[in-house]
Amino acid sequence: MPSEAAPSAAIPAVGEAAPSAIEIDGVTVERDGRAILRGVSARLAARRTAVIGANGSGKSTFVRLLNGLVLPTVGAVTVDGLDTRRDARAVRRRVGFVFTDPQAQILMPTAVEDLRLSLRGRPRKEIDRRVAEALHAHGLEDRGDIPASALSGGQKQLLALASVLIADPALLVADEPTTLLDLRNARRIGDLLLAGPARLVVATHDLDLAARCDHALLFDDGAITASGDPATVIDAYRRSCA
Ligand SMILES: Nc1ncnc2c1ncn2[C@@H]1O[C@H](COP(=O)(O)OP(=O)(O)O)[C@@H](O)[C@H]1O
Ligand SMILES: [Mg+2]
Repeated sequence: MPSEAAPSAAIPAVGEAAPSAIEIDGVTVERDGRAILRGVSARLAARRTAVIGANGSGKSTFVRLLNGLVLPTVGAVTVDGLDTRRDARAVRRRVGFVFTDPQAQILMPTAVEDLRLSLRGRPRKEIDRRVAEALHAHGLEDRGDIPASALSGGQKQLLALASVLIADPALLVADEPTTLLDLRNARRIGDLLLAGPARLVVATHDLDLAARCDHALLFDDGAITASGDPATVIDAYRRSCA
């Protein structure tokens, strides 16, 4: 679908001028000869977008398009004007990605080392200051030097999120970031995701989190079947499951 047709899925831009948005233009993703996303077009200009839908509906594939982890078989994806295929490196620098399982993301033996890794190449003084600030902001100030493997599940997800946020991504993409957490930790991670300065796109089964976003997309069988205000889209999802 040409990009001129995309505004059907557009939402009021919150003080954003184009191209400061994510454009998904006629995207099909095929795997093993099967389309797992089918002709998806959307323009995401809200500060916080929730992606909801049943297991296997295409949420993870969709959010992985946004940092180029998945490339379209047909169509194109741009983030603030950068094409995920052509400008892959610039896109990776701009987009932070939080996975469901923080173990997949924590690369270093301790929280301090993991946070420092995200800032590598910057002046040492700046790294020291920002790592201390991040530990404090995520309630990990006394957990910085213990083995990361000894952190609780909630603390691991806090660390994974902190390691992404510390690099100041313009866009934060999260794939079911609260699924493995208890209610208290899910709320805490949700608060941090929603409050951050970065634009957020979050795939989630946590409908409380989805309801707190500014916009929602509903996926069904590889296509967007509803797009709009979260309460309305969540209602459509509930009705589709009834
Ligand atoms: N790499 C892959 N190879 C083959 N099939 C895949 C691959 N990734 C996802 N799929 C299939 O695509 C569909 C959508 O998957 P996914 O995007 O993970 O959905 P969701 O995140 O909503 O559960 C599922 O049927 C899944 O099995
Ligand atoms: Mg998924």
